[in-house]
Amino acid sequence: MKHNLPYISLAQLPTPFYRLDNISAELKRNIYIKRDDMTGVSLGGNKVRKLEYLLADAKEKGCDIVMTTGGAQSNHAMLTAACCRRLGIEPILVLKKRGVMGRKGNLLLEALMGVDVRFVDTDSYDDVYVEMDRIADELRAAGHQPYLVPVGGSVPLGTLGYVDCAEEVFGQAKAAGVKIDRVICTAGSGGTVAGMLLGTMLYGDGASVTGIAVCDDPFEEITAELVTESAKLLDKDISLTPEQVDIRRYYGAGYAQPSEEGLEAVQMMARKEGIMLDPVYTGKTFAGLIDLCRKGEIKENETVLFLHSGGAASLFAIDPEAVVK
Ligand SMILES: Cc1ncc(COP(=O)(O)O)c(C=O)c1O
Repeated sequence: MKHNLPYISLAQLPTPFYRLDNISAELKRNIYIKRDDMTGVSLGGNKVRKLEYLLADAKEKGCDIVMTTGGAQSNHAMLTAACCRRLGIEPILVLKKRGVMGRKGNLLLEALMGVDVRFVDTDSYDDVYVEMDRIADELRAAGHQPYLVPVGGSVPLGTLGYVDCAEEVFGQAKAAGVKIDRVICTAGSGGTVAGMLLGTMLYGDGASVTGIAVCDDPFEEITAELVTESAKLLDKDISLTPEQVDIRRYYGAGYAQPSEEGLEAVQMMARKEGIMLDPVYTGKTFAGLIDLCRKGEIKENETVLFLHSGGAASLFAIDPEAVVK
């Protein structure tokens, strides 16, 4: 239990927090990183912290099968399967037949883990949820107890994983004598930015949070709602309106379509710091950070925390000629 809610430890915590000296010199800002790409299950990534709550909830409810969804290269789906393997729960992934197929990237990792992966040929998650409900009925009829995790694990309970991350990183910063002014993180389904925002309100000593959207969802609304609902789980009377949420859009041509700026950002991080970002989430997020520095919105004396949320497996799914020209 944690916060009086079901919780199972899955991640190797705390993840590292340190200053990116070369990037800081390049951008003339004080840039720190939180290495949540190193959460220690499979290849790591942000979903592990959310799953510490969601899979504990599944276990507490006596579920023996966990189903979730995402695109074909979903990091969330892959990490859900990996965490299920660790806990001895059977995972079933019902993925949208969209994006890079075949044994590449996360689909290769799922094949290694021997996961039951099914595809639905659709653009809409509504169709996927209909199929998941059908499979769940079938499983119940066969005597199983399935647990459904919605896309990205971005429900109030999963969001608490990032409230914990905020508490952890502000504790690390304080111990290191660092005052963080602004947090930059990805908004893909919203739980990470919502958790960081709520956690920063609780533990962040006045810091702000900027979410970088990597798809065209209405993240101001999604985040405000998740913050408000997650706060209730913690018995905190905190509510936000969409106008109070800072989201910047850097998705380029669309979700999972690599952008020129995103790939440049992936290269800059690799060449300056030896850290691997990804073309779908963290590369575009770091591109947003670079752009906000260049435009002067992030001021010269600002101390910025960049949350590395993982995802590098997808570097091995896209055209290598596009990654490095
Ligand atoms: C590597 C990576 N970073 C960031 C995100 C975004 O997190 P969220 O879905 O909580 O917005 C995801 C979501 O899948 C991800 O895989």
